[in-house]
Amino acid sequence: MTQRTLVLLKPDAVRRGLIGEIVGRIERKANWRITALELRTLDHETLEQHYGEHKGRPFYEPLMEFMASGPVVALVAEGERVIEGVRALAGPTDPIAAAPGSIRGDFGTITRENLIHASDSEESAERELKLFFPGLS
Ligand code: TYD
Ligand code: MG
Repeated sequence: MTQRTLVLLKPDAVRRGLIGEIVGRIERKANWRITALELRTLDHETLEQHYGEHKGRPFYEPLMEFMASGPVVALVAEGERVIEGVRALAGPTDPIAAAPGSIRGDFGTITRENLIHASDSEESAERELKLFFPGLS
């Protein structure tokens, strides 16, 4: 089942020099490839659309501020079961609960600064890919 997913390496990952490390883990998986990749600083409008489901929750405003605090790497990964697969590589939202070997488990301690976003379903992937890479066919 070939899929596409939207991945963001969050500002903490970029600041800490972890782009190569994280992109490498995605790149090395068999039958996956990266088909778009860009460094960019996100504006509040894009972030509101991206994280709209969380509006009103106590962590929302600090999350917005953090996500706009520096450049992110936005990329498209494509391949066999890549939506579920990148979520598995990332680990659960809370990095302390994430197993060593996962990206969040290896590099994170704080939920807000958990290094990576990855679409959580086919519906989210479709919506997020349109938001971040509108030119993609
Ligand atoms: P969520 O979509 O629940 O997690 P995931 O990124 O694993 O899909 O939340 C989006 C982001 O919001 C999450 O990556 C980090 C931040 N967040 C907090 O800062 N505090 C929280 O309690 C939660 C649930 C999320
Ligand atoms: Mg989510």
